Amino acid sequence: MTQLSAAQSAKPTPPDGSRALYGGKGTRRITVRDIAAAKERGEKWPMLTAYDAMTASVFDEAGIPVMLVGDSAGNCHLGYDTTVPVTLDEMTMLSAAVVRGTGRALIVADLPFGSYQEGPVQALRSATRLVKEAGVGAVKLEGGERSHRQIELLVESGIPVMAHIGLTPQSVNAMGYRVQGRGEEAAQQLLRDAKAVQDAGAFAVVLELVPAELAAEVTRTLHIPTVGIGAGPETDAQVLVWTDMLGLTGGRVPKFVKKYANLREVMSGAAKAFAEDVVGGAFPQEEHSVH
Ligand code: KIV
Repeated sequence: MTQLSAAQSAKPTPPDGSRALYGGKGTRRITVRDIAAAKERGEKWPMLTAYDAMTASVFDEAGIPVMLVGDSAGNCHLGYDTTVPVTLDEMTMLSAAVVRGTGRALIVADLPFGSYQEGPVQALRSATRLVKEAGVGAVKLEGGERSHRQIELLVESGIPVMAHIGLTPQSVNAMGYRVQGRGEEAAQQLLRDAKAVQDAGAFAVVLELVPAELAAEVTRTLHIPTVGIGAGPETDAQVLVWTDMLGLTGGRVPKFVKKYANLREVMSGAAKAFAEDVVGGAFPQEEHSVH
């Protein structure tokens, strides 16, 4: 018999799996209440980033239950070197496109750098734009203890918040891209950050680039789901940046990425074939012409 985790044996997934976040039967949009129920059932779930309607529609049809309009759009979609320059206007436009391209997934949008650090009121004003103008179901912001007041006001105002601790890319100028939570003091700080965002009302928390054992401990400690990226196998959910996961990103990708396809090669091959057909006169042919 397969060994079940404590959470699974306490509250098993229904035998027909109808409520499952991935593979479930429901066609209405997933809500943060469904996410909480999945944690109670001990069900793991996948999250992918998306930055445009068409890609998002593919992931929605594939059954991805939660999509993040990440400010990784800065590096992966908009041509910036980091996430720091991304603006609230850009996030609003990209998020609206992802909402339009999907019908089932819960869409979470990142609050970009500079749109919430001034304090709770600024955070509420920024998050309100993403909810009203783009139609997202939740927002994400970076920081643990340092962001708890922002999270509290958003949640009090009816806006679900996903927190993000560990490596927080918006702070790249201060912290670089290094593993977080190594050593006793840093591990204790990460645990404090995780509890602070849970106490403030976050419905989930991303753990980025954190030692696997520490991520497992945070996952056991919290009653909200943890979403790992470079945080080992024990988190409740896993997120990847879609351009990394599908092999579209050029150059090196982080060690924690698993590549499920090589879109860069496929697209480049197709572009070259098209160019050669045009140059050599093989395209268009009669069947591509109108008369
Ligand atoms: O912006 C993003 O894509 C993210 C994920 C890496 C979690 O924050």
